[in-house]
Amino acid sequence: MTNFPLLTQLPGASRLILGCMGLGGGWNQEPVGEAELRKAREAVEAALSVGITLFDHADIYTHGKAEQVFGTLLSESPSLRDRLLLQSKCGIRFADEAGPGRYDLSAWYIERSVEASLQRLRTDRLDLLLLHRPDPLVDVHELAESLSRLHRSGKVRCFGVSNMHAAQLAWLQSACSLPLAVNQLEMSLLRLDWLEAGTTFNDGAQGRADAWAGTLEHCQRQGVQLQAWGALAQGRWREHAVAGTLQTMAARLELVPETLLVAWLLRHPSCIQPVIGSTDPARIRACAAALDVQLSREDWYALYVAARGRPLP
Ligand SMILES: NC(=O)c1ccc[n+]([C@@H]2O[C@H](COP(=O)([O-])OP(=O)(O)OC[C@H]3O[C@@H](n4cnc5c(N)ncnc54)[C@H](OP(=O)(O)O)[C@@H]3O)[C@@H](O)[C@H]2O)c1
Repeated sequence: MTNFPLLTQLPGASRLILGCMGLGGGWNQEPVGEAELRKAREAVEAALSVGITLFDHADIYTHGKAEQVFGTLLSESPSLRDRLLLQSKCGIRFADEAGPGRYDLSAWYIERSVEASLQRLRTDRLDLLLLHRPDPLVDVHELAESLSRLHRSGKVRCFGVSNMHAAQLAWLQSACSLPLAVNQLEMSLLRLDWLEAGTTFNDGAQGRADAWAGTLEHCQRQGVQLQAWGALAQGRWREHAVAGTLQTMAARLELVPETLLVAWLLRHPSCIQPVIGSTDPARIRACAAALDVQLSREDWYALYVAARGRPLP
């Protein structure tokens, strides 16, 4: 596969990622039950069976229970850890007695968060750590030292960011000697900002110079791997104007709509890695089928235009 920057740092990483936010039960403190363990096992087995090797976590998902249930699966099958790659995130803090919901990219918080993720996942290393959201109070030099410490200790192999535009990423990278190799953004047929920022430039009617401008180009030029969260638009496409075009095209190509949603992201030349948030084995398999689909330019644009709801300028 060409132009897939993460592969050089993480050999064995799959093009598709299984998002694990739906594992572990609800966003509460209730213990993980047998049903949740079974659901997680089935989702992970389905993902592995279609060649997915990279699994996306965050310290906050279901209040730590997503990582916890995944850790249980790893402990049940000790050889599993070496057959997959683990990605987690840190930097979002829930409201607590000390303050409101907030972001925290301080060294103290990042390192504490990594320790906790490693314990929950029952592993000694994260293959990738993403900084979940930009923290306006970040001290970039402190951040750089913290990432270096985590790397030297062997606790984290590679780093990246999430939900950051080009200038934020470039600013952090200017201080960090280790590459920030990934940017995970919400990208789907229902979340088009990443495309619109480029295609509506110089469009008197619709143009807007928003913060996204240049993010796609920056990541491609710098070899930053793009990952798309919300790749299935959380199923919301079913109530959206794009549904008709999506379903008609899916029927013509003898695919299901989920396959087409993922194929649409894969067709973009920036080599996006879609993060599939499903826990349903059949839906996971349908997403993986997109790897064998090559959308024509006409079909790609038909979906884009239907999703944006108006012709291109
Ligand atoms: N970096 C970030 O800030 C960030 C934010 C959010 C998420 N993420 C990551 O990205 C992953 C995916 O994001 P996501 O979960 O927001 O989006 P997603 O993959 O677009 O959607 C997955 C969710 O939508 C449901 N769904 C999808 N298609 C459906 C359909 N046709 N009918 C009914 N339900 C359908 C799935 O249910 P089933 O399980 O039943 O299939 C699941 O609950 C997460 O797991 C997480 O790893 C990252």
